[in-house]
Amino acid sequence: MRRLGHRITDVVAEHIATLRDQPAQRSLDRADTKRLIAGPPLAHGTDFEELLRFLQERVFPYHAREPHPHFMGYIPSSPTFPAILGDWLATGYNFFAGVWTVASGPNEIELVVLDWFRQWLGMPEGTSGLLTSGGSAATLTAVVAARHARDVNGDLLSRLVVYTSDQAHSSLQRAAWIAGVPRTNLRAIETDGDYRMRVDALRSAVEADRAAGLIPFLVGASAGTTNTGAVDPLDEIAEVCSRESLWMHVDAAYGGFAALTPDGAKKLRGIERADSVTLDPHKWLFVPFECGCILARDPRKLEEAFSVHPEYLTDVRAREHEVNFADHGEQLTRSSHALKVWLSVRYFGLDAIREALARGVERAEYAERTLRARADFEILSPAQFGVLCFRARPAGVDDAAELDALNERINARVNGSGRFLMSSTKLRGRFSLRLCTHVHRMTEGDIDEVIAAIVAALESETISS
Ligand SMILES: Cc1ncc(COP(=O)(O)O)c(C=O)c1O
Repeated sequence: MRRLGHRITDVVAEHIATLRDQPAQRSLDRADTKRLIAGPPLAHGTDFEELLRFLQERVFPYHAREPHPHFMGYIPSSPTFPAILGDWLATGYNFFAGVWTVASGPNEIELVVLDWFRQWLGMPEGTSGLLTSGGSAATLTAVVAARHARDVNGDLLSRLVVYTSDQAHSSLQRAAWIAGVPRTNLRAIETDGDYRMRVDALRSAVEADRAAGLIPFLVGASAGTTNTGAVDPLDEIAEVCSRESLWMHVDAAYGGFAALTPDGAKKLRGIERADSVTLDPHKWLFVPFECGCILARDPRKLEEAFSVHPEYLTDVRAREHEVNFADHGEQLTRSSHALKVWLSVRYFGLDAIREALARGVERAEYAERTLRARADFEILSPAQFGVLCFRARPAGVDDAAELDALNERINARVNGSGRFLMSSTKLRGRFSLRLCTHVHRMTEGDIDEVIAAIVAALESETISS
């Protein structure tokens, strides 16, 4: 065990230490991976070194390196090494964190971590929830709890309506679908010039739905959209929810951790009024996949929706002040996600984490300043929470389709090199290049490099056209 374990530690440490020398992404198509990897299990065992070699040669090279300083797409995950070790420990001990008595120690760690998150967001005491596989699972948990709170017997299901902005993450939509809300009862409320939900439009939509005999029940606000980092006007949305008796859910998957910085806390004002919040520690709290979190202002709402007491679990019923996390969500058997969060946060301390978050925000602002200084680029959405949207717009190119096509080619060229991973998006129908600067080992030098690559791609397009 020790020999193999040390071997794997060396492999992972070497991988992380040499990230800069590796491509940010490398992929194969299915025919090639199948040729390299597919094969039946054998009746006899195989030497560990031989298996490791197989993985290192045929499997591991073909992936996008999320923690790479040139991974600037989607919302990246760049775990700390103590967080990785926390996951290994949870796996090694194989904790069953579904019920209290069989993992009371690790379960207390989860309660501690949930309470840290509550405090960071300024939510009232008593707020709690559970850690999940990710943000999608957290949001689904919230939507199911909200639906149960509004419609215990399911009689009203066909009339329930969910509201999000047209910039909300698709996981909100999918959660509503899975929760049984009719697909025609999802409202994508229009956003303002800063991609924030228009509260007047929300009010009108709620009013129109009530007039049509429907039952508005949940608003899914965003605190850091995936597209642009926009934060909906949370305070105003909280007012609407309170007046209309609607469940206020906030998707703060990555943006919520910005609450640790003074500027982020200001931007997130109002989040403390939510009925439930999604957080994704595997995004911007520097822990590895998988780790999401649902916080509920009244965790009894989770219990009412999810707890079930079969006779074979009588021995492990939670007593007063104990928590069976299986009663807070969909999973019975679950590992301890909390250990990696606790280990990383305690190892580095909040100051270091705050600093890493602030640097992530600043790198996007630095990229924005650099691009604004050039006449051939335009900012489509300013840097917010480490996300920047922009496009090349050389003089003389004004046609919308031409601009889209040009920027698509730039995106393909920069990503095609394998040196960087950016992920594009569309904003109001316009193709946008997009940089995400959350990876903690990224520097301003890395921003200079990616911008140089983007400029070179633009110049080669201009020359060849
Ligand atoms: C704002 C936002 N919400 C929710 C999600 C979904 O989280 P997960 O991928 O962890 O399920 C994401 C990203 O994937 C996101 O960016």
